Amino acid sequence: MKKIIVLDTTLRDGEQVQGVKLNLYEKLKIADQLKNLNVDIIDAGFPAGSTQDFKSVESISKKLGSYTAISAIARAVKEDIDLAYKCLRFADNPLIHISIGASDIHIEKKLRKTREQILIQSSEAISYAKRLCNNIQYSVEDATRADFNYLWDNIENAVKAGATIINIADTVGFGLPEEFGDLVKKINYNLKNLNENAILSVHCHNDMGLATANTLAAIKNGADKIEATINGVGERAGNAALEEIAMALKVRDSYYNAYTSIISTELKKTSRLVSYIMGLDVAANKAIVGGNAFVHSSGIHKAGAIKSRDVYEIIHSEDIGNEESDIILTMHSGRSELKDALSKLGFEKLADEELNKIFDKFQEIVELKKEVYDYDLYYLIESIVDINPDLGDEIIEKRKNLYELVELQVISNSIFPSASVKIKRGDKTYKKSSIGNGVVDALYTAIKEVAELEVDLREYKISSISKGKEALGKVTINLSYNKKSYISRAIDTDIIKASALAFINALNNIIMDKNK
Ligand code: KIV
Ligand code: ZN
Repeated sequence: MKKIIVLDTTLRDGEQVQGVKLNLYEKLKIADQLKNLNVDIIDAGFPAGSTQDFKSVESISKKLGSYTAISAIARAVKEDIDLAYKCLRFADNPLIHISIGASDIHIEKKLRKTREQILIQSSEAISYAKRLCNNIQYSVEDATRADFNYLWDNIENAVKAGATIINIADTVGFGLPEEFGDLVKKINYNLKNLNENAILSVHCHNDMGLATANTLAAIKNGADKIEATINGVGERAGNAALEEIAMALKVRDSYYNAYTSIISTELKKTSRLVSYIMGLDVAANKAIVGGNAFVHSSGIHKAGAIKSRDVYEIIHSEDIGNEESDIILTMHSGRSELKDALSKLGFEKLADEELNKIFDKFQEIVELKKEVYDYDLYYLIESIVDINPDLGDEIIEKRKNLYELVELQVISNSIFPSASVKIKRGDKTYKKSSIGNGVVDALYTAIKEVAELEVDLREYKISSISKGKEALGKVTINLSYNKKSYISRAIDTDIIKASALAFINALNNIIMDKNK
């Protein structure tokens, strides 16, 4: 089976997305997670682009250059190449990436040169870079709109000058899978005849939604290396999504006879981090990492998935490290799903009569609440205590440690944003007030003081749903002592209340985890 080299370009091409500018700390944080994801090469940036870019490529090379190969891009000019090497020299495996347009549109309209001038410029640039660094990647930009004969001359010229990797860039997402596959096949045949050690790489953009399909077609036709970004972020419609390619190769490895070294259980975490730092939401239906990617909604699908997950799942959410442990029941949830959720909480032996009664109650509350979480199930079970009194003690015991928001008040101002909460636990009621950097910070500090659980807030998100009438709060907290993560959510018409409830729900998840 062939190993496909994965270059992640989230910090270079990905950062070119409209409105995103990452600082050094943010880039290092993403780079560190890319290391955990086990990408083969981190494309750290464009050192000639700005002093900040220079500094971040330099820092990434210093901090991560002994774990992962690091690349930096340069135009085919000495100044860019010098700057790239100046940053990359701290890495054990530096890769200078020189890029130039290969289509007539790029050559004539953007570069205002002739085809011959480009050949001279690129071979001079590659020979110069080769004196500094052994590994040179040469990208032919807009290759899918280039004349094939010239494209090949250009590639041959680059290999003869010392390029070790040839990167076919579908810069504007013009390629189609079959056609792109054929192009890669032809180039690969010529390239391996010219130099069997040369590496063929592809870089696809997503303007027609085909970046992943094109990348996979390239792998099927001989590409040795691929370039992609987390969540598919990048210029315009973005780049090929790394998580999609990695999982397609994992699920269909025998078809491609290929694999990557990506640690798939780090995918979700990486996606969340990139989304959070870049401030770019991942669409709910985004393949692999979208919020709904593993949620079965229709009754028939849910019932099938409960019988056997393989009925409707080709990937399990834990394969990508999904931490979403909450079972969320909605208006679409049927009796068998409710039964499954109850049995996971330990209520396995319910009689039909009991289940019917609980289901009736469930339909009442789901109408009001929209989503029913694990701890709500205790309240549902209460509805059958009259017919099964034995359950009473068990519920009281399990419920008494859970927190319940009674009231809250926040004061928003620029000097002392503050929050007060009243929270019930069992038969005790607690009140706390706190100040913070903002009202949500104050609110969370007050709740944490009540809970007396050592937790760190890892992620907080509030978004509008149901045409802006309601807010969905989502939080991820870590238990400080073992870093175990708990994700939770809550819906309310008030954004502050949704935020508070989401946090309290996450604390309850910790308690319920202990109960289990
Ligand atoms: O899209 C593109 O052409 C690029 C190259 C620099 C590889 O990002
Ligand atoms: Zn690109």
